[in-house]
Amino acid sequence: MIPHETNGNALFWQRQAIGPGERRRLHGHAPAVLWFTGLSGAGKSTLASLVEQRLHALGCRTFVLDGDNLRHGLCSDLGFSSEDRRENIRRAGEVASLFVQSGAIVLTALISPFAQDRERARRLVPDGHFFEIYCNASVDDCERRDVKGLYRRARAGEVKEFSGISSPYEPPSAPELVLDTASASIEQCVEAVLKIYHERLARPR
Ligand code: ADX
Repeated sequence: MIPHETNGNALFWQRQAIGPGERRRLHGHAPAVLWFTGLSGAGKSTLASLVEQRLHALGCRTFVLDGDNLRHGLCSDLGFSSEDRRENIRRAGEVASLFVQSGAIVLTALISPFAQDRERARRLVPDGHFFEIYCNASVDDCERRDVKGLYRRARAGEVKEFSGISSPYEPPSAPELVLDTASASIEQCVEAVLKIYHERLARPR
C-alpha cells in the first residue's frame, strides 16, 4: 500500500489487482471520456445518447453522464453559481475518471462552462483518452430552438445565472473535435465522433 497524505488525513492507495490491460482485453476496446461541452440546447445530450447507442451496438461498455441527471442525485446540493458549477464539474470529472479506470467509454453531456474545470477533468485520465467535443451553437441558435423553454424564462428573469445570457461560457481553445450543431446534421455529428474515437484509439471489436 502506498501512503498518501490528503488534507492532513493519513490515507493509502490500495493497489488494484486487475489492471487497465486486463480490463481492455476483457472489453475488447479502449476506455475513453467523450466530453461534450456547449450551451444548453446545443445538442450535447442528444449526441451523447446517439453515439452511445452506436458504440453499444458495436459491443462497447458505455455510460452517459448527463448534467440534468447528475443534478438529481450526486449533485443535487448544487446550483448554478460559478462555484457550484465548478464543483459539479469536479465531481463529474472524478466519476468519469472512475468509469475510465473500469475500462468503459463514458460520454458526458455537461455545459461545463469553464475551461479550467474541463482541463482538470482531462488531467484525470491517461493522455489521449480524453476527447473534448465542442457542440458549437451560438446563443441565438440555441435560443431559437429553446427546447426546454429555459431561454425564454432566462430572458424573463425567471431563471437566474443562465449560461450564455447571465452566466459566462468559455469555448474550448483546442478541443479534439468541434461540431457545428446548428448547421451540420445530427448524423454527420455522430459519425465525426465515432471516427475520431476509432482513429485515435483503434476500432472496437
Ligand atoms: S454546468 O454548467 O454545471 O455544467 P449542467 O450541464 O450540470 O451545467 O446543467 C445544465 C442543465 O441544467 C441545462 O441543460 C438546463 O436544463 C438546466 N439548467 C437549469 N438552470 C440553468 C442555468 N441557470 N444555466 C444553465 N442550465 C440550467
